[in-house]
Amino acid sequence: PRNLIDITDLSVEEIDQLIATAEDIIANPAKYQDACAHKQLATLFFEPSTRTRLSFESAMLALGGSTLGFSEASSSSTAKGETVGDTIHTVSCYADIIAMRHPKEGAPFAASQYSEVPIINAGDGGHNHPTQTLTDLLTIHREKGRLGGFTIGFCGDLKFGRTVHSLVNALSRYENINYVLISPTELKLPRYVKEEALKKKGIPYTQTTDLESVIPQLDILYMTRVQKERFFNEEDYLRLKDSYILTPEKLEHAKADLSILHPLPRVNEITVAVDKDPRAAYWRQVKNGKYIRMALIMKLLGIQV
Ligand code: CP
Repeated sequence: PRNLIDITDLSVEEIDQLIATAEDIIANPAKYQDACAHKQLATLFFEPSTRTRLSFESAMLALGGSTLGFSEASSSSTAKGETVGDTIHTVSCYADIIAMRHPKEGAPFAASQYSEVPIINAGDGGHNHPTQTLTDLLTIHREKGRLGGFTIGFCGDLKFGRTVHSLVNALSRYENINYVLISPTELKLPRYVKEEALKKKGIPYTQTTDLESVIPQLDILYMTRVQKERFFNEEDYLRLKDSYILTPEKLEHAKADLSILHPLPRVNEITVAVDKDPRAAYWRQVKNGKYIRMALIMKLLGIQV
């Protein structure tokens, strides 16, 4: 079966096609309402989620399919010691496609070795989150009308932020993008992401700890939460958690056509007052997550409308 474990499992042409399909779904939802009739999506979430799990389920229901699954490992036989491999082998006997989230990096890849149906990585530890990246790419495409020719700033926890790792990887295959990496020194983008996605391809980037000094040059600002659940010690988390707080005052010096993205959930890094700013694209981004996942489910099931 065709899986989505890493964003590079999809070619640029396939990503562009998924975006085109999502745009058609937005324009003509009724055309797709029976596309996945009699198909079942399993959502296996070994880690908490609101958007990813519910957008996958909403996506499958909107395609005329149905869903099954669990949102807590403690309610599955994992609690009795069953391996991920056996869990996936079992679920692949019942479902046509599986979206799974797991705290361990690489768990969806391992799971794919035991599955007879497509596996979608819905987030693995601090590693990757390819379907959030598809959501982000659709959002950038809708907000900016293009996937290149802009300056993007990534701000916050770039070390543990799996959405950033996957998005940098994806964008590095498009042309003419300037990268500004904004983080505390302790939470810089991991070396392996910088090497693979940027340095090896000769793509320049700048790094800074100071959001305010770079905000005027940005076309897109991708804010992230400090990932409490990945910290080994609470003291470090408490020291770093409020490193960046985006407020209406800080946005006074930003471009008039800036797009502010955030994969959500937010904790304190964007104040609620920013939501009223037309440049805040993150609630539109949440909606886009459903449409791009509809397009992805159809693609992995080999369904064309
Ligand atoms: N963006 C995202 O992955 O959100 P959830 O953790 O709520 O799924």
